[in-house]
Amino acid sequence: MVDVKNVLVLGAGLMGHGIAQVSIMAGYNVTLVDIKQEFIDNGVKKIEEGLKKLEAKGQLNAAEVMGRLKTSIDLASAVKDTDIVIEAVVEKMDVKKDVCKTVMENGPAHVIFASNTSTMSITEIGKDSGAPERVCGMHFFNPVPLMRCIEVIKGAQTSDETFNTAMQVAETLPCLRGKRYIAPVLKDRPGFIVNRMNAPVQIYMGWVFDQAAEKGIPWERIDADAGGKMPMGPCMLSDYVGLDTMLHVMNYYKETLSPDFEPPKVVKELVANGNLGAKTGKGFYDWSQGRDAIVEKVKKAEPAGIFNLEYSMAIMLNEGCRILEEGVASGYKIIDDANMAGMNTPGPFGAGKKNWEKWSKLLEELADKTKKEYLRPCELMKTGQFVKMRK
Ligand code: 3HC
Repeated sequence: MVDVKNVLVLGAGLMGHGIAQVSIMAGYNVTLVDIKQEFIDNGVKKIEEGLKKLEAKGQLNAAEVMGRLKTSIDLASAVKDTDIVIEAVVEKMDVKKDVCKTVMENGPAHVIFASNTSTMSITEIGKDSGAPERVCGMHFFNPVPLMRCIEVIKGAQTSDETFNTAMQVAETLPCLRGKRYIAPVLKDRPGFIVNRMNAPVQIYMGWVFDQAAEKGIPWERIDADAGGKMPMGPCMLSDYVGLDTMLHVMNYYKETLSPDFEPPKVVKELVANGNLGAKTGKGFYDWSQGRDAIVEKVKKAEPAGIFNLEYSMAIMLNEGCRILEEGVASGYKIIDDANMAGMNTPGPFGAGKKNWEKWSKLLEELADKTKKEYLRPCELMKTGQFVKMRK
């Protein structure tokens, strides 16, 4: 095990600043690195705001915790006394490979590179770095201080020492809402556990979005179909995560899992017009009046009767079974616990144990209706054999 005292967080953006905040709160010395001082200053401002909220509640002394934070725009020098780098830069493979190589060439002989990537191959990131055995994944969920899950991922060449050190560091990072849940991801497969399991739901959601667009049905009526059983309905969640992310992620799965992940027309149009969702103030919804105004709009809307949450659970059970078949997770309890910790929504296996036969039939119909073969149930789901794979 590597004795970790000094953490370098690479990328001060949406995820990076949150990772830096929980790392200094955990007691590590943290260096926040980005390519421009302006990006770092924005990140530091958000960290200070967060710490001040906790100081107001008497939970910590903001100045003392901030005292553990340094910043730099020079990765090669900042990494010199680093034990672990947690990378949260742009989701571009060439950039990730480049910074990973820089870390291995300039950091101490024991330095670990843990990528927060949500979809890219850990194995590929580390392949040409010079030390692939010291590369792993450490995938956080947005917003980092509030979402409990951290997935720790083994690349094809990740050593046990690297994996176990990353698991241990992840356990020490505080969560403001409930206990951290660290999910061990044993195979470097697209989307790891939670994103992989929710990904094919986007095939179904995309089909619903295009159906609604064709029929001129307002988005709030689609979200009303969720009946408050999700923290946010499908349109609002897509806006929240970012429509560019949805497009990027679906194109990634289209390359790595199935052509059935072809993104929906309506999302391609929104992104082409620069409407990326909450981050640009406009996507499916106009976010200028804030999240609560949208929540109110959805509450008042008449359900459209198009989006069926039961299909989502059936699709997730199917993908969860594929995750078990491929050896990505060692049992279905890890998968359910990771989904609840990462998305604040239940995983599919609890209900799936009683519904797998009914849901298998639902998926046969859905695959016929949408012409998306990827939605057809896999063997482990059709036979119900997954029930023996709890641990
Ligand atoms: N530091 C300190 N305190 C903070 C803080 C921070 N950084 N951020 C928030 N807080 C405090 C707030 O001040 C608030 O305090 P209060 O209760 O005393 O007022 C408390 O923490 C809760 O904050 P919010 O009120 O903002 O949080 P909500 O209860 O409204 O929940 C939410 C917000 C967690 C985003 C909730 O809407 C939710 O769970 N949404 C679903 C989000 C989700 O699904 N995320 C996963 C997306 S997928 C992903 O990330 C994968 C990746 O690969 C893309």
